[in-house]
Amino acid sequence: MAASREEVIAALRKAYMMEVETVINYLANSLHLEGVRAEAIKSSLAADINEELTHARSLGNRIKQLGGTIPGSKELKFSQDPLQPPKDPTDVVGVIRGVLAAEDDAIKHYQSIIRMTEGDDYVTQELAISNLADEDAHRQQFEGYLKEYTKG
Ligand SMILES: [Fe+2]
Ligand SMILES: [Fe+2]
Repeated sequence: MAASREEVIAALRKAYMMEVETVINYLANSLHLEGVRAEAIKSSLAADINEELTHARSLGNRIKQLGGTIPGSKELKFSQDPLQPPKDPTDVVGVIRGVLAAEDDAIKHYQSIIRMTEGDDYVTQELAISNLADEDAHRQQFEGYLKEYTKG
């Protein structure tokens, strides 16, 4: 059975929150990391910030179209433990693993939105598929970085 409009709005608000938290943590880590090995990751994170912001904006537009409201800062609940800037600012691998965890969470959440809108809300579903494709590409990119940065 298809999800109710309220359930879809709630799922979109959660996705919006996850995107905003990702923007905050990519920004923090893109500024926090230090060292020669950090430069490529810093610029990759800085570039991704814009894409994640675009995701948040597209989710917000859909929430509005469905009659929902966009959460402000006091309504946001954050939970990305693995993406907190590491104590050691040269811990590039720690940040890469944090990015992979965040991308995995986003992928799982978009997959659940795709399932809950099947047969009913194809506009939301298409949005979730488009964002999922971007997150999939991010994950692949950072999996490549992880291979390179953990090479013996
Ligand atoms: Fe995103
Ligand atoms: Fe992403």
